This record gives sequence, C-alpha cells and structure tokens, in this order.
Amino acid sequence: MASVFEQTIARNERIEPRDEMPDAYRATLVRQIAQHAHSEIIGMQPEGNWISRAPSLRRKLVLLAKVQDEAGHGLYLYSAAETLGVSRDELDEMLRTGRQKYSSIFNYPTLTYADVGTIGWLVDGAAICNQVPLCRTSYGPYGRAMIRICKEESFHQRQGYELLMTMMGGTDAQRAMVQESVDRFWWPALMMFGPPDDDSPNTAQSMAWGIKRNTNDELRQKFVDMTVPQAKALGVTLPDPDLVWNEERGAHDFGQPDWEEFWQVVKGNGPCNAQRLAHRRRAHDEGAWVREAASAYAARSQHD
Ligand SMILES: [Fe+2]
Ligand SMILES: [Fe+2]
Repeated sequence: MASVFEQTIARNERIEPRDEMPDAYRATLVRQIAQHAHSEIIGMQPEGNWISRAPSLRRKLVLLAKVQDEAGHGLYLYSAAETLGVSRDELDEMLRTGRQKYSSIFNYPTLTYADVGTIGWLVDGAAICNQVPLCRTSYGPYGRAMIRICKEESFHQRQGYELLMTMMGGTDAQRAMVQESVDRFWWPALMMFGPPDDDSPNTAQSMAWGIKRNTNDELRQKFVDMTVPQAKALGVTLPDPDLVWNEERGAHDFGQPDWEEFWQVVKGNGPCNAQRLAHRRRAHDEGAWVREAASAYAARSQHD
C-alpha cells in the first residue's frame, strides 16, 4: 500500500514540515534549497561590485534595491530550509567551507556597467524560467517562498533590459559594450539550467517527487525561445552560429555550451570562485560583533 507521503504526491498536494517524508526527499530538498539560498547571497557580489560606481543616482538606487532583494531571497530560502530541520548556521558554514555549492554563473566577473544590465536580462531571466515552475513544487514552504521571489525576479529582469535598451540608444561605444557583455554571459546563462538531461542522474527522482517540474533541457529550450525575440528588439546578436528557428519543432535549435568549462567552474576552478568565497568568509568574520551584539540584546530582552 502506498504511504501517506506517496498518496499526497500522487494527488499533487503539498508536503508540509511536520508531515512524514522519506529521508532522501528531505535531503534532496535541503541540498536544493540551500544551494538556491547560497546563490542568492553570493549573487549579490558581482553586481554589488558596481553600486559605488553606478553612472547616476537613479541607476544606483535601482541597483541597490535589486541587490537588497537578493539578500531577502536568501533569507526566505534559508527559512524554508530550516523547516526541514537544519539551522541557518549549519547551512552558512557549509557555504563558507565549500561543502555546498551555489550557481556557477556567479563565478564569472562583472567587467563593465553593461554587465549589470546583462545579468538582469539574461541571468535573472534564466532564474525566472527555472523558478516559476518551482512555485508548484511539492514542498509547501519552498513553493510559497518562490511565489514572492518570482515577482521580484521579474522586476530584476525588466530593470536589466531597460538598462540595456538605454545603452543601445546611446553611442557606438555603449552599443559595443552591451554586445561584448552579451557575448560573455550568453553561454554561462545557458549553463544555469544544469547539465543536459542524459547527464543529470537526479532529475528523474526529483520529478517523481514533484520537486522539479521540468527537465534541464526543457527549461533551457524555453529560455532560448523567450530570449531570441528580446535580443532582436534590443539589437544585439546572440553569439551562437547554430541558433536557428526550427519550423518543424516550433522551437529554436541552438548550440551546446562548453560543458567541460561548466564542470570546471562547479569544481571550484572558475574565474572568481576563490574570490567569491574569500569575500563571503571575510564578511562573516567582520559581522561577528553584530551577531554577538544581537544575541546579547535578545538574551537581555528575554529577562525583562
Ligand atoms: Fe533572487
Ligand atoms: Fe534577481
């Protein structure tokens, strides 16, 4: 006879924190939600790099708000992970010691202000494709966190696109800056969906549990089909000679990213892995006094 857990999944209903669940389901969720939370937090770095050098007060305000949103996303997600019986301290330590991963995209540098636009357009755009189906994920707290996150991600995507649109209406040098940025970020953005399906052994189980709703390749295809008309409207070229509309499939054919590079970045050998983790560790150490003061204050308030 099917367990209560299996029946709940079969009815497409939600698993909640106090429900019984298989250990492997819990472990998979902790890993996935933690990795997602870490990505939000580490993802603040490449763009935070530009806050002090934003070209106008308006751009500075928009970028500050966006980076702050990412901190908020990290917090909702750590809270969702905590409902599975892990503490935020444990998860944070796993990030700082490199035992848990974050998205490979944040190990690429931001070299120009156009990268702020490209990240909003392509990186937040890819994140939206990945995350919208997660609003229907089988674990309640994760799905509910994703609803708010997705609303904010769509603001991020639009602010990036608007920035690039503005630059494309500027000088030749600004247009060249946008194209160069898109050339660097296109392939890493495609890698955000993870390895091809035949190289993604956990996908089938995650889909059977209702954690994942689409395969990596399905989501990558959706992203490409969504992005091509946007690139055209913007006036940039996507750097893939194999990118072409396939009438029969009703979808675009496109080339494969360099998967060897992807695995290297995942293993810690990307251009900025060491820098990102070093920065995170330094921020943690420098924040020790804040944590101590907050704990001391909380302890004292309890006595009063
Ligand atoms: Fe986010
Ligand atoms: Fe975002």
